[in-house]
Amino acid sequence: MKQAAAVAFTFVALALSIVWPLRVPAPSTSTTSPDVQRGAYLVQAAGCISCHIDEDAAPALSGGRELHSPFGTFVVPNITPDPETGIGGWSVDELVGAIRFGRSPDGHTYFPAFPYRSYRGMTDRDARDIAAWLLDQPPVNRTTAGHALAFPAWLGRLAMPGWNRLADLLTTAPAPPSDPQIARGAYLARDLGHCGECHTPRNWLGIPDSSREFAGAELVEGEASAINADVFEGWSEQDFAFFLFLGLKPDDEYVGGEMEPVIEFNTGPLTEEDRLALAAFFLRGQGQATSN
Ligand code: HEC
Ligand code: HEC
Repeated sequence: MKQAAAVAFTFVALALSIVWPLRVPAPSTSTTSPDVQRGAYLVQAAGCISCHIDEDAAPALSGGRELHSPFGTFVVPNITPDPETGIGGWSVDELVGAIRFGRSPDGHTYFPAFPYRSYRGMTDRDARDIAAWLLDQPPVNRTTAGHALAFPAWLGRLAMPGWNRLADLLTTAPAPPSDPQIARGAYLARDLGHCGECHTPRNWLGIPDSSREFAGAELVEGEASAINADVFEGWSEQDFAFFLFLGLKPDDEYVGGEMEPVIEFNTGPLTEEDRLALAAFFLRGQGQATSN
């Protein structure tokens, strides 16, 4: 069944890639130089570390972690600035193209296991600061294994522009909230923290169902619970912010599974102000932001 879905997926997306060529991102118009210090904070807010971490050489972002999906196993690459095995020699603009548009410097489109579709909503300034921070890190020479997918990886890559086009057509962008605190929380949840990559259910092509944002999803290992307003009955905004800090729920249970690294590397290191903004978005802002 999974095999059949993977094969169908490849052919549908491949056909679409032929019909719709790749969207080319507009080059940055920014003239200010990026801020490495801001980048250090944003790399945490965007959760880059929990995926790209090399468990043997933490905290280096030299990759190697396996991500299991219905389409096979993706191996997260080395994103330290090593010229041979990482991103050494890339420009800030090339990195921004990868992060926000899923486009590699040589023009191919990444697999969405790299959550660039969430990062698309990131501001150009934030993406540039992240890029500058990455390029400022010590290089680690480490070759990671190739992906082991249910279809040949080169064929899957050719299908990615079409897959993205289809995902664009099937996705409705939520209205931006007007309250500034809730808007900050929405930005942290959707565009940086990519909470929906795990918590929003996907269709058989792996495209998130934007009409059921944060409604909970089956993962290959376990389940990401619903995180919409219905399930947080009895949680105060302080409770939610505390949960994001330590992973401890108001019923005194610790969260587990794939949420653990999210707490450790993404929401835990945030400022209290940003955790409260996330809490405001999830407890007060979602209905307002997603009703259409
Ligand atoms: C959910 C896991 C995940 C997260 C979170 C994630 N990435 Fe990745 N990233 C991947 C995977 C998987 C690939 C490989 C994609 C492919 O081969 O098509 C990748 C590829 C990349 C590449 C391309 C590397 C190359 O050699 O071509 C860059 C650059 C990158 N990621 C940077 C980032 C940055 C910066 C962040 C945070 C803003 C981030 N990633 C967050 C999983 C992730
Ligand atoms: C890599 C996948 C992944 C990402 C990204 C992720 N989560 Fe989770 N989350 C999970 C899983 C899996 C669980 C269930 C863990 C368990 O069974 O204990 C969970 C549980 C939770 C819970 C507990 C819900 C309850 O009632 O028990 C909350 C709240 C939560 N996540 C919020 C978030 C927020 C906010 C973000 C974005 C900043 C986020 N998650 C990003 C996978 C993820």
